[in-house]
Amino acid sequence: MTQLTTIKGRSSGMSAGKFIVIEGMEGAGKSSAIAVIEDTLNKHGIEFINTREPGGTPLAESLRDMVKSVDHQEKLTVETELLLMYASRSQLLANKILPALAAGKWVIGDRHDLSSRAYQGGGRGFDETIMNTIREITLKGFSPDITLYLDIDPHIGLSRAKARGDLDRIELEKMDFFIRVHNKYRELAEQDDSIVTVDAAQAMLQVHQEVEKAVIGFIAETKKG
Ligand code: TMP
Repeated sequence: MTQLTTIKGRSSGMSAGKFIVIEGMEGAGKSSAIAVIEDTLNKHGIEFINTREPGGTPLAESLRDMVKSVDHQEKLTVETELLLMYASRSQLLANKILPALAAGKWVIGDRHDLSSRAYQGGGRGFDETIMNTIREITLKGFSPDITLYLDIDPHIGLSRAKARGDLDRIELEKMDFFIRVHNKYRELAEQDDSIVTVDAAQAMLQVHQEVEKAVIGFIAETKKG
């Protein structure tokens, strides 16, 4: 109940903290884009914390290991995968994101709920109605203030990820899976005005300039409102 009140308080403008999320498929360049966001917030004197999903709290990091590990004795079911993602998100929201926002800090999220909708919804084919129930239980209407979605063709993204080194359990999926994830990301990004799509196939400098511009624009908007 306390949690619900806190979430509602935030959406009605009682807190100055903002939740910026970066999303995209493997090899999209999330890490360097996060560095650009950090730099931009620092230049504007905005205090922030970083989170990542799955993970971000001690318990959620254990769940992350379970989700990413390729060394399981048994195959992870798609239901377990989905529930671990939301269990991790619930821990992170209650223990890190909401307290930071309530304290007026901004939060930079390396992935959030859009990932589940793209990977588990699009990739695994989970029914949207069922997922919406789990989302409601976990998030209670909470959502990011702005999401920067780095759009990359999965063929390019996966080859970048492979060049980086060892692949985790999800990265070892077949290309068909990633094509479904990509299509879902694009579909969801088109439907939601709070998602800014950045073409991540461009030169890195261009990508970073677009990310910086979006964040500066968002900061200006928050000062107005
Ligand atoms: P990454 O943080 O290194 O990108 O790894 C996280 C992996 O987990 C990545 O393959 C995307 C996947 N994932 C989901 O399938 N669903 C989710 O809800 C989240 C947050 C991540």
